[in-house]
Amino acid sequence: MSYPMLRSFAKGLLTSSVAAARRTMSHSSLSGKVAIVTASTDGIGLAAAQALGKRGAHVVVSSRKQANVDKAVSLLRSEHIQVTGTTCNVGNREDREKLVNLTVKECGGIDILVSNAAVNPFFGNILESTEAVWDKILDVNVKASFLLTKLIVPHMEKRGGGSVVFVSSIAGYQPMQALGPYSVSKTALLGLTRALAPDLANSNIRVNCVAPGIIKTRFSSALWQSEDLVDELKKQLSIKRLGEPEEIGGVIAFLCSDDASYITGETVMVTGGISCRL
Ligand SMILES: NC(=O)c1ccc[n+]([C@@H]2O[C@H](COP(=O)([O-])OP(=O)(O)OC[C@H]3O[C@@H](n4cnc5c(N)ncnc54)[C@H](OP(=O)(O)O)[C@@H]3O)[C@@H](O)[C@H]2O)c1
Repeated sequence: MSYPMLRSFAKGLLTSSVAAARRTMSHSSLSGKVAIVTASTDGIGLAAAQALGKRGAHVVVSSRKQANVDKAVSLLRSEHIQVTGTTCNVGNREDREKLVNLTVKECGGIDILVSNAAVNPFFGNILESTEAVWDKILDVNVKASFLLTKLIVPHMEKRGGGSVVFVSSIAGYQPMQALGPYSVSKTALLGLTRALAPDLANSNIRVNCVAPGIIKTRFSSALWQSEDLVDELKKQLSIKRLGEPEEIGGVIAFLCSDDASYITGETVMVTGGISCRL
């Protein structure tokens, strides 16, 4: 090959790799986006806020307790993430409205919703669960996810589209022993994802879901504080360890990015290989 040919070949290679890098950067970048993540002062929600923030989004974090919100805001600021914090119990209508109004006022709009909050006030035989238990679980885990989405959709439409991610659970596919009502609420989120996706596609809004396996957080501490139980759980896993919140946060950020531009109505299982569906 002559020198001029070699030079033009090398230039071509460089240009195409720069273009590829730019493409990659722009697709995974969330710069300029505003993301609400509920229940985001600890565990998976906090990890999702970190993953979205590190990709350039302005994140709005919230949970029920002001002290937890303050702590999460300081942590995220120390990581150079643009962040706004407020209290919000997602089961409370006024709190949901406050969260949305504050976000629009302070950040100028909303592009991303990660609906992550859940409660589980009941362990035991499902036949012993009361109406109050079902009301609480369905209000917080299912209805609040829908009602928050409904509140936010008009704001996403004003921005030309957006992305919603619900946090379900492996229990949504395979009900966990002693966690019947909670498991049913997580199955309902799979249905909610499917029900919303076609209608919201018309507004360029994608709706997806993640179903974590057993992730080391306070919520699941009863499962991983006993070594014997962990050993038993590991038998079901292909990857022989429990998950970390960051391993869910990254998947959520992916689903919110343009790398996932053709994915909607989908649930991604992040379980270390627990098998419960093909
Ligand atoms: N950890 C797992 O193994 C696992 C597996 C599958 C699915 N999940 C799902 O992942 C999600 C997060 O769980 P996690 O394990 O990350 O929990 P976590 O580490 O215990 O964190 C829970 C967060 O939720 C907030 N919170 C609790 N109730 C709330 C409410 N009503 N409204 C707003 N915020 C609330 C808490 O803060 P405050 O106390 O300040 O409110 C805290 O920030 C849940 O949907 C859970 O079902 C977890």
